[in-house]
Amino acid sequence: MSSEQKVAIVTGASQGIGAGLVKGFRSRGYRVVANSRSIQPSVTGGDPNILTVEGDVGDPRTADRIINAAVERFGRVDTLVNNAGIFIPKPFVEYTEADFTAMLSVNLAGFFYVSRRAALEMLRRGTGHIVNITTSLVVQPMAGVPAALASLTKGGLDAVTRSLAIEYAEKGVRVNAVSPGIIKTPMHPEKTHAALAGLQPMRRLGEVEEIVDAVLYLDTAAFVTGEILHVDGGAHAGRW
Ligand SMILES: NC(=O)c1ccc[n+]([C@@H]2O[C@H](COP(=O)([O-])OP(=O)(O)OC[C@H]3O[C@@H](n4cnc5c(N)ncnc54)[C@H](OP(=O)(O)O)[C@@H]3O)[C@@H](O)[C@H]2O)c1
Repeated sequence: MSSEQKVAIVTGASQGIGAGLVKGFRSRGYRVVANSRSIQPSVTGGDPNILTVEGDVGDPRTADRIINAAVERFGRVDTLVNNAGIFIPKPFVEYTEADFTAMLSVNLAGFFYVSRRAALEMLRRGTGHIVNITTSLVVQPMAGVPAALASLTKGGLDAVTRSLAIEYAEKGVRVNAVSPGIIKTPMHPEKTHAALAGLQPMRRLGEVEEIVDAVLYLDTAAFVTGEILHVDGGAHAGRW
């Protein structure tokens, strides 16, 4: 396979948006490194252009294994999607220390460790793109869905997206984010979908493919960096 073929890394790729991203990048001809704690080589369906790397993104050794695998097997890193994330909605005073530690570990430490290693590789080649998956709750919290730790951690991703976009603007590395509304993934049990849809401006949940399309658009958008692209049926726009 030609070393001209682009390589994308997707964290949290065993299901939901991450699994959709793996398919989306493959459909565009990318080779893909797919990570999650439980991901198994069998998910590739025998596709030699998908490499799975098991591991917790909150552990810096996982970041080393992901980037080393991408470079050793595929020779380059073009795009990193920091998709691994957890969501624990609760009233603020009911959050435990374990909730706090878990949310920081996956949503923020996971971003930091993997992005730091990927950025080194991108800066070395003078080209690359990092996409963070955040949430519209950062800019439009919902009274019916208390989730302060989601805002605290994903708000950090929104902020660092702009910060790194400026730090790397002249270095060939773009940094963007996609900010989903409520999307139909295993994160939300099916029995909750109707109630959640009722909380959305468009009265429906988003589809995984709608997030994948946004990531793929950003990946081709050479003059776009520092963008937080909301794909949320209008949820960020105001009260409804
Ligand atoms: N669905 C929504 O409504 C929604 C809305 C806004 C934002 N988002 C964001 O979109 C992203 C994907 O969400 P989703 O709905 O697809 O979630 P999901 O269906 O729950 O899938 C989460 C994925 O992340 C992996 N993961 C969890 N902890 C991990 C860790 N420590 N290290 C590596 N991988 C880990 C899981 O696999 P393992 O269990 O194998 O690790 C799984 O593949 C998340 O960042 C989420 O916050 C989702």
